Amino acid sequence: MMKMMKMVIVSLLIGIVLGSCTNTSQKTTDPIEEKVQTLIGQMTFEEKLGQLVQTNYHGEPEDWKEQLAEGKIGSFLNLSSVEYANEVQRIVVEESRLGIPLLVGRDVIHGFNTVFPIPLGMASSWSPELAEGAMKIAAREASANGINWTFAPMIDVSWDPRWGRIAETCGEDPYLTSVLGAAMVKGYQGTDPSEEGRIAACAKHFVGYGMSEAGRDYNTTYIPEALLRNVHLRPFKAAADAGCLTFMSAFNDLNGVPTSGNYFTLRTILRDEWKYDGMVVSDWASIQQQIVHGYTETETDAAEKSIKAGVDMEMASRCYDNLPALLEAGKIDVALINESVANILRIKFKLGLFNNPYTDVTLKDKVILTDENLDYARKVARGSMVLLKNEKQTLPLNKTSKVALIGPMTNAPHDQMGTWVFDGDEKNSITPLTSFTDVLGKNLNYAIGLEYSRDKSKAGFAKAIAAAKKSDVIVLLVGEESGLSGEANSRAIIDLPGIQSELLRELNQLNKPLVLVVMAGRPLGIGADIELADAVLYAWHPGTMAGPALTDLIFGDYSPSGKLPITFVKGAGQIPFYYYRKNTGKPTDPERMTYIDDIPRNSKQLSLGFTSMHIDYGITPLYPFGYGMTYTTFEYGDVKLSSKELTKNGELKATCTLTNTGNTKAEEIVQLYVRDLFGSLTRPIKELKGFQKVELAPGESKELTFTITAKDLEFYNGEEYLTEAGDFNLWIAKDSDSGEFVSFAFVNE
Ligand code: BGC
Repeated sequence: MMKMMKMVIVSLLIGIVLGSCTNTSQKTTDPIEEKVQTLIGQMTFEEKLGQLVQTNYHGEPEDWKEQLAEGKIGSFLNLSSVEYANEVQRIVVEESRLGIPLLVGRDVIHGFNTVFPIPLGMASSWSPELAEGAMKIAAREASANGINWTFAPMIDVSWDPRWGRIAETCGEDPYLTSVLGAAMVKGYQGTDPSEEGRIAACAKHFVGYGMSEAGRDYNTTYIPEALLRNVHLRPFKAAADAGCLTFMSAFNDLNGVPTSGNYFTLRTILRDEWKYDGMVVSDWASIQQQIVHGYTETETDAAEKSIKAGVDMEMASRCYDNLPALLEAGKIDVALINESVANILRIKFKLGLFNNPYTDVTLKDKVILTDENLDYARKVARGSMVLLKNEKQTLPLNKTSKVALIGPMTNAPHDQMGTWVFDGDEKNSITPLTSFTDVLGKNLNYAIGLEYSRDKSKAGFAKAIAAAKKSDVIVLLVGEESGLSGEANSRAIIDLPGIQSELLRELNQLNKPLVLVVMAGRPLGIGADIELADAVLYAWHPGTMAGPALTDLIFGDYSPSGKLPITFVKGAGQIPFYYYRKNTGKPTDPERMTYIDDIPRNSKQLSLGFTSMHIDYGITPLYPFGYGMTYTTFEYGDVKLSSKELTKNGELKATCTLTNTGNTKAEEIVQLYVRDLFGSLTRPIKELKGFQKVELAPGESKELTFTITAKDLEFYNGEEYLTEAGDFNLWIAKDSDSGEFVSFAFVNE
């Protein structure tokens, strides 16, 4: 009743102001803007400050009653109970003066109760459709629990598999990350975020966090402006263009200025250049951490930097309690506070929270972990796995074979879910052991071998070897526990943990076909391990439906279709290694490498020829970006261009015929790369500019066309965004290291 009355009063007031606006010569803006400004006009300074506060939820709603009723909290994070969410919303709506609803935020990163593959796995599907569909389900499940805002997608670009948070990225490429990030935003928010089942997305972490030095989480980042704009900012621009309602400022210190107080990135670029009108939330206590960074001395200074830079809401810390002092000292203007409050209220209106902040408590039983959600999770997991090797067509396996299933990831219901699983429950995980048992029955010989990935006891080896001896083929599931990747969990050594490689070596001695499946949160340095297996499937952490997705592929009901969204290095010493590296002034021909053991003793320095390489690893990665096999073979026809020239307002069409030359129906991810041969800043040796996923039956062919415009070739040269006249090479290929190029010129007319 109270709530109704309050809404009526607010609507009346809005009506009055709206009316007065239409009567003046002032132009009316959109209705949400009118409502936002009207509400701000009614707020006390304390109420405005309250909107900027995001608090970590704990305890009972009753514990927060006083603060909520006084309008001192604008948002909670980590509240994941529909009953509690409804109650805190009821308190603010009915008992606070203006009844402003709360944003309830949560890390819903790769699923809620139904857990999808880690984002790096999802990115391996190169499928914006699957990414959107997965996030739509995640949003629906989360919103049924009273959550109206997620801190995702994470669209940091990273070249460093040591970094634990690589698991949460879409990999190393700005274009692929842009496409998938925008799709995820759409999945969470839909076209109308106020629709039931939709929640606000948050593009994070703005910006450059993925470049933490040495892959050590939270570490310093140095990114020159051209690299920032050409790589790290691009996915964020795409997210802003996709209507992402919120952004999160990051933890890292960027070129000496912490990103949560960085005027250049947050104000000059995000607000002034991009005209972003969403809301910016800090990362956890990152405003306060400016003191720890050694950038600001006091919480008051920290608050000044952040509010001026444009961080609207402070997560977890309370530096913004000092805003009144800053105002009094004349260091900030109330207009700045109003701007932040407006950014926050705008989101609350766009989410429809003023119309209805409550969630139907019966909904969750209808929308969570449904068969449909689980089937979709199985499909996404299937699409995320990458076949790295398949000698003698070891895969797919025959369902009548005797199979030895071995390894610490065979029955790891918790670990298969991956890093961000606040709301995932291992009880819902279907493990590979369950699915292999379903397919094979008594033809399955199971022995775990090692209890968990870091287990260093050989106690289980004998049973594993015995199981293998009884079988026609060995399937060994190794990897990393989920806790070895994710936030703060960076590794300096990126090999298989524990003695998993030893178990592999012993099984390899048996001379039986050996299939290695790797479940991990990062691209591991598994060069030596791969040598010991006949087939290798990289499964990442596949989520709730790991088991069924894996057996779908292993037994050939579906063909693998994933491709790597990140370069696989031979070992950590090769990092950073990414496909769009520069040519250098002394590139190495991989065919003409001298390796460390071939160097004659007492050789003169010149004998190696002064080129850019490592004398142990050479100049090629373990697997290049874009790489992935399947059960069939595809042939790429010659690439044809519609013209040898692209003009400023013109279009260039590149076509290529793809043929399935094998015996199995499969999908292929066809990739378009371009090289700008000369630039006013040196240009990468390749850049992904497009991709298409096509399914072909055996013998089937399809002509694929990509369209290129001047905009696709644009880059930032340190002073401006431009497309420079000159020659370009173009590839349509199966990965970043294959194919023959054709050339064209861009003429600036
Ligand atoms: C992480 C964010 C996350 C936030 C809230 C931080 O530690 O860096 O990605 O959204 O916590 O849980």
